Amino acid sequence: RPGAEQWLPEPGHRDVATLREAATGCRGCELWEPATQVVFSAGATGGRLALVGEQPGDQEDRRGVPFVGPAGRLLQAAVEEAGIAREDVYVTNAVKHFRFTQQAPGNRRIHATPEAAHVTACRPWLAAELAAVDPEVVVVLGATAGRALLGPSFRVTKERGHVIERETSRGTKRFVATLHPSAVLRTPPEQRDAARDGLVADLRVAAAALG
Ligand code: URA
Ligand code: SF4
Repeated sequence: RPGAEQWLPEPGHRDVATLREAATGCRGCELWEPATQVVFSAGATGGRLALVGEQPGDQEDRRGVPFVGPAGRLLQAAVEEAGIAREDVYVTNAVKHFRFTQQAPGNRRIHATPEAAHVTACRPWLAAELAAVDPEVVVVLGATAGRALLGPSFRVTKERGHVIERETSRGTKRFVATLHPSAVLRTPPEQRDAARDGLVADLRVAAAALG
């Protein structure tokens, strides 16, 4: 697995539009092959807040846009409820191709969690886009984004909902970890409202961390 680095544009040419175009040719791991297309990012390329998810889902893979399926709709509503303006938000994923299993061609494609090696292979894109956008606050959605951004020992369940400061190539940045919206959707019905409220509360922490 060679990793994405060799497909990145030259340093100095790493604005989001150029990165997005270059990512269409990425062969940094094997996930590109069964997927429909790369799903790079959406939203404000000058956003003060970045939301980082896991990987595109089935609908994102078909449409080429992140967070347009059920988890994305839940996330969008939670962002609004937390009082975060759309024009402040950049959205992306730790892994840029949909990983899935499928019993037979034509059957439903079932989400498969990306492995640590996929996260590592894809991380050059994430690092480059965050350097380009240079958000004040990064919201870490779930364990895969946590691993990509905060290292393998990061535990979302233990460290969610407060501001974590880390050194990055663009200076000290604030990170706020929370549940992945898909985890809210998987929560049993009687606890789902509470899980969703927890996501909104964590997003409010992120909003308050904006300068
Ligand atoms: N889940 C994610 O993590 N990202 C998406 O883009 C969609 C669902
Ligand atoms: Fe490249 Fe990431 Fe896709 Fe792997 S998942 S091929 S590293 S863009």
